[in-house]
Amino acid sequence: MANTHTGPRLRMPESVTAALTCPVCGQALAQDPSGLTCPSRHGFNVAREGYAGLLTGATPPGTGDGKEMVADRLRFQTAGHYDPIGRALVKVLSDGPIAAAPLIVDVGGGTGYYLAQVLDALPEAVGLTTDVSKFAARKAAKAHSRAGAVTADSWRALPLATGSVDVVLNVFAPRNAAEFQRVLKPIGTLVVVTPEADHLAELRTALGLLEVDPRKDERLAESLHGHFAPAEARRVRFDMDLPHQDALTVVGMGPSARHVTREELAARVAVLPDPVRVTASVRVGTYRSGTGPAGPR
Ligand SMILES: C[S@@+](CC[C@H](N)C(=O)[O-])C[C@H]1O[C@@H](n2cnc3c(N)ncnc32)[C@H](O)[C@@H]1O
Ligand SMILES: [Zn+2]
Repeated sequence: MANTHTGPRLRMPESVTAALTCPVCGQALAQDPSGLTCPSRHGFNVAREGYAGLLTGATPPGTGDGKEMVADRLRFQTAGHYDPIGRALVKVLSDGPIAAAPLIVDVGGGTGYYLAQVLDALPEAVGLTTDVSKFAARKAAKAHSRAGAVTADSWRALPLATGSVDVVLNVFAPRNAAEFQRVLKPIGTLVVVTPEADHLAELRTALGLLEVDPRKDERLAESLHGHFAPAEARRVRFDMDLPHQDALTVVGMGPSARHVTREELAARVAVLPDPVRVTASVRVGTYRSGTGPAGPR
């Protein structure tokens, strides 16, 4: 009997769909009434919200951000507190060489908020958010009319064709340099945002949170070495006036709060000025494919 199932449709431009590959075997995926299928008949669902579920059984369920975390992050982002980071991404891409109608992929892109800002500024560009969290993918699928979303695990093969991507964005998210290099075109660009030592310094001190790893820059360089050559780095530093709820959110968004209970954090925030002035300080590093001047280790 003919397959009459007509499930939800992917919400993404054709040119983005064309770059998607099977996370099991790497072959191209085609859309059919049941979802997405590769020539070896590996099948994947399209969710009601329009994203493709491209996780394999290898990723434990529940990896990545939960529903509340994603909702908190989106609320924080929509309030505009981190907009200077989005503007910095736009500036970096506008200042550099960029292909016509580029495909921009935000890996570990969460809600798709930064990708949407970038696409707003680059009217020819199309985009994709990959994230292991289905709660993030639900939001990212609707973040921009020229972008789509898939669930995918950054520690596995990314579900994208080799050499299909113009720009990889990676903002406060896990990095897989080998896969970033594989999916990028030979002249592709990687932009990585990481926190600086003084990021959220006032909250770290007042709330007794973990410091940013002092070796973070070194570890970033090590993780990219052999795959990418540094092109430039910018520091983006600005003040945020955070109402208490947003201060709690920004703390909960990072790794620093793991050792303090929510109740304890709320009690410590309650005695701060409302709003509280907090420094945001991040590094925006740009890289090109290649091994860099020193060559592979
Ligand atoms: C700190 S958040 C940053 C999200 C987004 N880039 C932003 O700045 O708003 C880290 C993101 O990485 C995702 N993530 C964690 N582990 C992952 C993995 N193995 N593969 C893909 N995404 C992952 C989380 O679900 C979360 O959305
Ligand atoms: Zn396959």
